[in-house]
Amino acid sequence: MRYIVTSALPYANGKLHVGHVAGAYLPADIFVRYLRLKGEDVIYICGTDEHGTPISISADKEGVTPHEVVKRYHDSIKEAFDGVGIEFDNFSGTARPPHHKLSQEFFTQLYNKEHIQSKVTLQFYCEHDKRYLPDRYVEGTCPKCGAGGARGDQCDKCGQIYDTTTLKEPVCKICGNTPIIRETKHWFLHLDSFCDRLKVWLSGKDYWKENVLNFMMGLLEQGLIERSITRDLSWGVPVPLPDADGKVLYVWFDAPIGYISSTVEWAEAQGKPEMWKDYWLSPDTQLIHFIGKDNIIFHALIWPAMLMGQDVCYCLPHDIPANEFMNLEGEKISTSKNWAIWVDEFVKEFDGEYLRWYLAVNAPEKQDSDFSFKDFQLKVNTDLNNTLGNLANRVCAFTVKNFDGKISPCEFDAESQAVISEADALLSEIEAGYKDYQVKKNTKLVMDIARLGNKYFDERKPWSVIKEDKAKVNETLSVCMNLLAKLSIAMYPILPKHMLRLREMMNLSSGFAFADAYGTLQSEVQLGEIRPLFRKLEDEEIAKQLELLKASSKAAPAVEYAPIKESISYDDFAKMDIRLAKVLEAEIVPKTDKLLKLKVDIGSEQRELVAGIAQSYKPEELVGKTVTMLVNLEPRKIRGINSQGMILAAHSDGKIKAILPDGGGSAGSVVQ
Ligand code: MF3
Ligand code: ZN
Repeated sequence: MRYIVTSALPYANGKLHVGHVAGAYLPADIFVRYLRLKGEDVIYICGTDEHGTPISISADKEGVTPHEVVKRYHDSIKEAFDGVGIEFDNFSGTARPPHHKLSQEFFTQLYNKEHIQSKVTLQFYCEHDKRYLPDRYVEGTCPKCGAGGARGDQCDKCGQIYDTTTLKEPVCKICGNTPIIRETKHWFLHLDSFCDRLKVWLSGKDYWKENVLNFMMGLLEQGLIERSITRDLSWGVPVPLPDADGKVLYVWFDAPIGYISSTVEWAEAQGKPEMWKDYWLSPDTQLIHFIGKDNIIFHALIWPAMLMGQDVCYCLPHDIPANEFMNLEGEKISTSKNWAIWVDEFVKEFDGEYLRWYLAVNAPEKQDSDFSFKDFQLKVNTDLNNTLGNLANRVCAFTVKNFDGKISPCEFDAESQAVISEADALLSEIEAGYKDYQVKKNTKLVMDIARLGNKYFDERKPWSVIKEDKAKVNETLSVCMNLLAKLSIAMYPILPKHMLRLREMMNLSSGFAFADAYGTLQSEVQLGEIRPLFRKLEDEEIAKQLELLKASSKAAPAVEYAPIKESISYDDFAKMDIRLAKVLEAEIVPKTDKLLKLKVDIGSEQRELVAGIAQSYKPEELVGKTVTMLVNLEPRKIRGINSQGMILAAHSDGKIKAILPDGGGSAGSVVQ
């Protein structure tokens, strides 16, 4: 058996925050470390997700190339991972040429089998910026749940995905104008042709986490449709077809392929370029994707379909442990509001493993969890210091003081034996927990071992027994040393650096596999230099962090306004002829839900025009109203209607409302 463990490729568009680590990285790193302790053949693969519109938008805003943005965040993310001990076998990036090549091969193979077909579609287009507005280039109101700030293809609020043109009240993210809808050709992955295979494959996955399984069952019931997998953009993997100029693969098409291209890169770095095949093309591989809940559909549906449609037989995901989200001090983590704890900054203040511990204790496994500084302090102080640290310190200090740091193996009485068996029973439970990605439960179980040790130490009262029976105290300390040795293995996946330090302190050089944790140590323990394992977190430093968090989030603007356009002369302004117009007739333009066809009276004449305000007004509501209108805008054909002018409108509470003159005014009166 071989394992490929992956964590969702983080977008190279921002720094890593604690929510990311808690969801997709720490649980995977812990799982991998556990597998290594079991002697399993495992590779842990990741990299940055370097395409997608947020990256090119950032690059445009900063006036740099997307490559520069990607490089900066790739390095910063990698450093943050190092800071919390997340150790990948390979950390690649999807802008690298081999990844482009492999992604194009994926496309071509699906295309040749007719799983991918093209279609002319409608897309938002900004006439001001003269470009299409895929995904994040447009923002509006979610057609599914009504939340504002929804992006072109997916709503952050409800997580649902929709057809871009159904987005309500769309606004161009570059210039703030309302885009028009234009035709453009795109390529679609026909998921329906995989439906039966997906169902069979999924039917064997009853061991999956409930959140993933339920989600998938719901989707399959709804029936699978085709999904657009290309975009009108310049940043991305070019579509490998002759008639696809200016088109790239959708970021979610190429990103998961990064799991493979990163493995190929790893194999090359090992000097065995073919070795990636031993993993990806073997039926004996367990492929396990750790992700956040917003990534389920891509990993459990589209990605397996993409793999099924290849010429070679890739292994399919064995499991997809998806975690929920982590909030921060009771509120949703938000990058734009700077309401986040950035990992690189955090590890400058606190040991990265304190963060690992807290994120493990508080893992958002079955429901969203909350990061609170006070709770972080509490967990570090009670678990790590008062429970584990206390056991290690008192046992080691006592040993140094009374036994020159040396404890020999000896016979155990019934009480001592019971403690060892109880700890071993806990170890089996801990193993089951690791296999099942139950990090949170395991933080409790390992502490149970430490608590067992503290209780046993207290009850055996070595400080008074030492006066009459040194051998008995040797036994007490030996049992405690055994517990510490067990903990150094059982807790290693969660706190690798500290557990290695503990092992070094105890000179435990022998076996370091999970199996070595069971039973008792056969050789004497000769302690090395003793140092406290952990340090207490003080109220002041925690208060300071809370203040910093609040201050920095206040400093960030809550809303993003469109940049103010270049200034114009009065003459430029005077070129616009804006007048009051009275709406005489209004009706929905057939086959649209945004457009109204209006007949208006502008005093001197009557005009017909199309206005994109159908989602804010019923036609009958508008009739009789006086609106403001640009009357000298070049006429334009919209949906076959000759539109002679433009009604002025503004966004208000996520709706687009006509600007009405205050106090009426008669049709034809000039606005100035
Ligand atoms: N970049 C995506 C996110 O952060 C995850 C991509 S996972 C991959 O949500 F499989 F597509 F790589
Ligand atoms: Zn624009």
